[in-house]
Amino acid sequence: MSKNIVVSMQNIHKKYLGTEIETHALQGISLRIYEGEFVAITGPSGCGKSTLLTIMGLLDSASEGSYHISGIDTSSLKVDHRTQVRNQHIGYVFQSFNLIDSMTVYENVALPLEHRGENAQVIKSAVTDALEKVGMQHRAQYKPNQISGGQQQRVAIARALVGNPDLILVDEPTGNLDTQNGDAVMKLLMTLNKQGSTIVMVTHDSRYSGLAHRQIQLLDGKVVGKKQLQTSPEVPSKNKDVA
Ligand SMILES: Nc1ncnc2c1ncn2[C@@H]1O[C@H](COP(=O)(O)OP(=O)(O)O)[C@@H](O)[C@H]1O
Ligand SMILES: [Mg+2]
Repeated sequence: MSKNIVVSMQNIHKKYLGTEIETHALQGISLRIYEGEFVAITGPSGCGKSTLLTIMGLLDSASEGSYHISGIDTSSLKVDHRTQVRNQHIGYVFQSFNLIDSMTVYENVALPLEHRGENAQVIKSAVTDALEKVGMQHRAQYKPNQISGGQQQRVAIARALVGNPDLILVDEPTGNLDTQNGDAVMKLLMTLNKQGSTIVMVTHDSRYSGLAHRQIQLLDGKVVGKKQLQTSPEVPSKNKDVA
């Protein structure tokens, strides 16, 4: 059985043009992500991981090269259409959660569906479902500053998956969390993947990258290695009481 290709990148370059210096952050990246995969993008600080993820997430565009998501050629998209493709196909989880403080947990998770113009009934059922998946339905009416960092990241994950996207992108999801909360978020991502979500996760933490099906290693804006995992992974438990 052939798997659907979700992401296909060909010779992607990204140059940041400063007033004095030009940074060639991505230097010819070609890769594919298949439906159902859990892929880790690894490499030292500054090697281009976040840049690659923002391009994959249509938050920024490449200077050169081609990028298809779910068969859609993104290079020719106008801004509005690009936003629409992002909203329909991609869920994005940031290291710093990026929840809107003035909105409740429920309203934050509802946002992607509000942007799609879904009706209240559809939104209610999808948000309830997403909050249940991440174990946060009991905090639906709380504001982000009334819950812990680990809980905020769960809510951010619910927001990413509420619209049933083809691809969930996660940038250093455990970077702002302690080990216990980090492990719990990692377990959640693995569960979502087992339930069918395709996940690409940036991390420099080898404890977590080893849990992905496949690792894509970057150095100085280039792919320098690929690793395929052989055995079935489990979050290594430092703390016995981790959920
Ligand atoms: N908005 C930006 N403007 C200019 N340079 C940037 C910008 N974002 C990232 N860079 C540079 O691009 C390179 C890759 O950065 P980044 O993708 O953030 O790496 P990583 O996520 O692997 O730490 C670095 O040299 C960084 O300084
Ligand atoms: Mg980064």
